[in-house]
Amino acid sequence: MIKIAISGKGGVGKTTVSGTLARLLARDGYDVLAIDADPSMNLASALGIKNPPKPLTEFEELIDERAGGPAGVFKLNPKVDDIVGKFGVVGPDNVKLLVLGTVERGGSGCMCPASSFMKALLRHVLLKINSVVILDMEAGVEHLGRGTTRGIDIMLIVVEPGARSIETAGRVVELARQIDIKKFGAVINKAGDDVKFIEKRLDELGIPVVGVIPYDSALIKADMENIAPVDMGGNAVEAIKNILGKLSVKQE
Ligand SMILES: Nc1ncnc2c1ncn2[C@@H]1O[C@H](COP(=O)(O)OP(=O)(O)OP(=O)(O)O)[C@@H](O)[C@H]1O
Ligand SMILES: [Mg+2]
Repeated sequence: MIKIAISGKGGVGKTTVSGTLARLLARDGYDVLAIDADPSMNLASALGIKNPPKPLTEFEELIDERAGGPAGVFKLNPKVDDIVGKFGVVGPDNVKLLVLGTVERGGSGCMCPASSFMKALLRHVLLKINSVVILDMEAGVEHLGRGTTRGIDIMLIVVEPGARSIETAGRVVELARQIDIKKFGAVINKAGDDVKFIEKRLDELGIPVVGVIPYDSALIKADMENIAPVDMGGNAVEAIKNILGKLSVKQE
């Protein structure tokens, strides 16, 4: 059961790709758990879930009870095996969604119950759960550390035409290597005539390109009308189907 993490600079299309991959995999008959680990928290709408669940970080008492301890001590292995069942919301095509919320993080992450709880939850989900997992995350992964990210099979880094998102991709790959994520690839999104240039830059950085998604105004329309991209359809969604074919999920 493949575990896919989606990363990249702000606004490049991480959530669009995550939500669409999740729905397509679910339609293929997989049991899919989508995790919103991005502080901007909008994976629900990309999945077509109208009433997003309350983020886990808002359940402070639960987190303190599980991961907290007396006088600033916190547990490294809090109980988390019931969390997906209790807080996961089921959406269209039976995709299950868990929204993590915003955990304060510095370079190495905060030493607090919330951080400990989220790391334990991700470890559990990535290593123990027998579902396909799609993780919509922000660009930084350093605060998660090796033990937490070990279960990630592939990290997709979304880039858009523009130097900044390519720079970010380079940084993400460096971090991914540091925390032992072996397989990664770039997805070029919002592509126009500039694809060759971006491919060249990515090649220089040693990042293989997994797929190219064209700029598609249908996605803007979907966003404005609060329709999941997969329910809107169009060229971009077709391109994401293509990417799925290349991830060799189907053989598993
Ligand atoms: N291929 C595309 N063509 C046109 N618009 C797109 C495309 N992909 C994404 N968008 C639009 O770009 C905007 C940002 O996309 P999305 O929210 O998926 O990015 P993100 O990386 O998750 O952003 P954030 O960092 O804020 O979480 C949205 O309005 C989305 O509809
Ligand atoms: Mg997002």
